[in-house]
Amino acid sequence: MALSLQSEQFPGNPVQVVSGPGALARVFTYTDKLGCPKVLVVCGEKVSQLPQVADLAAPAPTTVEVFDQVEPDPSDQTVATGGEHARRLGADVIVAIGGGSSMDAGKAIAAEAAQPGWIFSQDRPGEPTTVPEAVLPIIAVPTTAGTGSEVTPFSVITFTEAQRKVVLNHDALYPRYALLDPTLLTSTPPAAQVAAGMDALTHAIESYVSKEATGPSRAWARDAISLIGQHFRAAVQSPENLEAQAGMQRAAMVAGLAFSVSRLGIVHAMALPLSALFGVPHGVANAILLPFGMEFNQPAAVAEFANIAQALGVSKEGDTPGAASEQAIAAVRELAEDTGAARRMSEVGVDKDAIGRMAEDAMKSAHISRNPRTVALADILALYECAY
Ligand SMILES: [Fe+2]
Repeated sequence: MALSLQSEQFPGNPVQVVSGPGALARVFTYTDKLGCPKVLVVCGEKVSQLPQVADLAAPAPTTVEVFDQVEPDPSDQTVATGGEHARRLGADVIVAIGGGSSMDAGKAIAAEAAQPGWIFSQDRPGEPTTVPEAVLPIIAVPTTAGTGSEVTPFSVITFTEAQRKVVLNHDALYPRYALLDPTLLTSTPPAAQVAAGMDALTHAIESYVSKEATGPSRAWARDAISLIGQHFRAAVQSPENLEAQAGMQRAAMVAGLAFSVSRLGIVHAMALPLSALFGVPHGVANAILLPFGMEFNQPAAVAEFANIAQALGVSKEGDTPGAASEQAIAAVRELAEDTGAARRMSEVGVDKDAIGRMAEDAMKSAHISRNPRTVALADILALYECAY
């Protein structure tokens, strides 16, 4: 993995990706290029204290304020408060620094800033997102290697009153720049690192087998799977290993490129209610559900799973596609075990009595229609039971 600064853009995706150590320190070069001197940084409290963030010095005439109230699984209320802050400052660009929660909140705040109360009109699962005309430009800076939000038009917001997560999706929510600085990953707490890595792996695998996968999206997804196979264990075991962190950061980003095209599948559909109802972190929910979702999908995607085994470096020459596809599932279980990921819903505070409601919520997700194997409510109920 190259550890010098590079800038690139990918076919069909509008985000300029700048990667390498020190990428964040150059953020004002990019706010300047956008002609935006009033910067609102959107992050969580811990991220605001990272030296790389606290030491950001804006050259005149740039003014910077920090909105550091983003919580895990950001709520509609946080978006409204952040939007108000942006309007008070007269912000003309949002720099969202953090994991998926901060980047997703930053995107929604960029829209809310242009139209007070906009966020409350978007609690419409499955319906197209509408945005105000003047959404502020967004620069995304990930501090975990997970969601890929830095290169997607998606923002997952929790609507407090309805107790559900809704995936907002609009081209205006694509960041203009993604700054991938691997030094930001070295202080990520291990549990967050593991959850993020399992989220990225779930994106890559669900994208690879999606009914809407294309040649380019499959190539990105495969690249992500291979990078995760190479770097995930090392990144978790040795957080200071910049090469491993850069490898995971790239994996999460290219998986984001892949699923922007292909969307996801049954695992993400089933993960959302675990977070909305029981506050299970998104990556933890995916880590638990991924092997079960793969087992369900395997009969409908044997060749694809065999390719996944190859990308993970676990298939042997002469293996039948059936045997190789089984090895992909075993390899994912092993990776989860080696990195200490959660394995069961019962370990993370999910109430078994809620399985019926969760299954109904999961069936409403748009991801279900992209899953390679047709999904019925009974299948989801059975999978939740198995994963409990
Ligand atoms: Fe995800």
